[in-house]
Order: sequence, then C-alpha cells, then structure tokens
Amino acid sequence: MTKNVAIVTGGSGGIGAVVCSQLVKSGFVVAVADMNTGEAKKVAAVLGGNAFPWQVDVTQELSVKALFDQAETIGAVSVLICAAGVLILPGGERPLIADMNIDTWERSFAVNARGSFLCSREFLLRCQKRPVDHGRVIFIGSSAAQLGGYRSSSAYIASKSAVMGFAKAYAREVAHLGITANVVSPGLIDTDMLRSTVGSSGDLEITAKSIPLGRIGTAQDVAGAIDYLVSVNAGYITGSVIDVNGGYRMQ
Ligand SMILES: NC(=O)c1ccc[n+]([C@@H]2O[C@H](COP(=O)([O-])OP(=O)(O)OC[C@H]3O[C@@H](n4cnc5c(N)ncnc54)[C@H](O)[C@@H]3O)[C@@H](O)[C@H]2O)c1
Repeated sequence: MTKNVAIVTGGSGGIGAVVCSQLVKSGFVVAVADMNTGEAKKVAAVLGGNAFPWQVDVTQELSVKALFDQAETIGAVSVLICAAGVLILPGGERPLIADMNIDTWERSFAVNARGSFLCSREFLLRCQKRPVDHGRVIFIGSSAAQLGGYRSSSAYIASKSAVMGFAKAYAREVAHLGITANVVSPGLIDTDMLRSTVGSSGDLEITAKSIPLGRIGTAQDVAGAIDYLVSVNAGYITGSVIDVNGGYRMQ
C-alpha cells in the first residue's frame, strides 16, 4: 500500500515541528522541509522512521520541484502545509513604513507569498498528473494581516494578506480535483518568531491578559487545527480561514 505523504515547509520551525509531530501521529509520512537542514534533521530524528528531513528554499522554483521529487519517492503527496515564513525586524525593531527598505519588503514577499505560491502550484501540478484522495493544502496566514498588526511589519502584514487572498483563488481552482485549501490564521503563538518581537513591544504576559482565553497560544494549538483540516472529516471545508488566536480577533 502506498503511503500518504505530507510535506510541511518550515518544518523545523516552532510551529512547523509540532505540526510534523502531529501529522506523524495521525498516520502520515512527513517531509520535514526547511531551509535549516540541521534543525530539520533534529526534528525528523525525534519523530522516527515516518519523518524525512529535506532541504528546501521555498523561494526557489527548482528547489521546490526537487522537494516534491524526493517526497514522491516515498509515496503520493496528498497534504501540503505551507508553514515556512519570515518576520524581518532589522536591528530587532519593528520597521515603520517610512523606514521600510526594499530588501525587507522583497524578502518578506519572497518567502511568505512567493513560497506559498510555488509550493502549492507544484502540489497542484503533481495532483493533475496523479490524482490523490483527500488532497489538502493549508496556508498559514496571520491575525496581523487581519488586524493591521501591533508587533509585525507592514511587509509581513502585506505578504500574509497576499497569502490569504491567494488561498481563496487556489481553493476555487483546485476544487474540481477534490482538493481542499484553507488558511489557518494564528494569533500570538509562542515561538522564536513571536519572541523576536518582544524587544520592541513589551512583555508577553501583559499581552496575554488582552486575549480572551488569557494566554499566548502554543504551536500545538495551531497543529490541532491543521490536523482537523487535513482529516477526512473536514472534506467540505474549503476557502476558509480558521482563526487560532484565543479570541484575540473575533469576526
Ligand atoms: N509565531 C506566531 O506568533 C505566528 C503568528 C502568525 C503566523 N505565524 C506564521 O506561522 C508560520 C510558522 O512560524 P513560526 O512561529 O513557527 O516561525 P519560525 O521562525 O519558528 O519558523 C519558520 C521556519 O521557516 C523556515 N524558513 C524561512 N525561510 C525559508 C525558506 N526560504 N525556505 C524554507 N524554509 C524557510 C525557517 O528556517 C523556520 O524553520 C510562519 O508562516 C509565520 O509567519 C506565526
């Protein structure tokens, strides 16, 4: 029997690593795909025989194709989680628009938006050639894109907004293949990315008090939502945004 393979980009990051662990528990063979190969190897080693560490730079077309080629040696890729992302804070400070330089703007879009486009396009091309059952794509948005963001930058907010818009176009175009595509939009989740904002924005404990559920989120909170969305039970949910933010933003 062929195995169901899930690719998790940013798979060695704070959220990605926990998503990899959750998907292995749910029976997937997982490609821990990250630019940081050393960390990806550590994550895969902990997860055992059903996780493979693979290097990818999501901004590069050929690198993304190579990742899918490798993953398909294991089995059909039926799940893609686009969790690779960057929040660039030059000098540890949140850059205001007046100070935003082109490199920060372009790099934010290259990783967050182009990376999600390239990976999901490759997933679509492979599924067109070789249809999969219960194909699932999860994009990672951000409450920063929904709220204007207090800790992140305009480049991050704009690039995540691009991802969230693209996801709807994508969901529409892949629906006839039986593939669902959704956005998980985390609020404040305790990872290195969030902690990189603390210098410029104060204490997380104080911020936690402004969240209705009274705490900063965990990577497992995000992984739990993703685990549901990739399940067979979520088969009629597509083009949706699932907020995982403790009530920080309600719509
Ligand atoms: N932590 C939060 O509060 C929060 C909130 C909203 C959204 N998010 C989003 O969740 C996702 C995961 O964030 P995280 O908190 O785990 O951050 P993280 O920095 O811990 O992980 C990001 C991962 O992406 C990888 N990466 C960066 N550029 C890459 C590239 N070009 N190719 C391949 N991999 C690359 C990094 O090596 C890292 O492992 C990101 O998309 C982030 O924007 C995070």
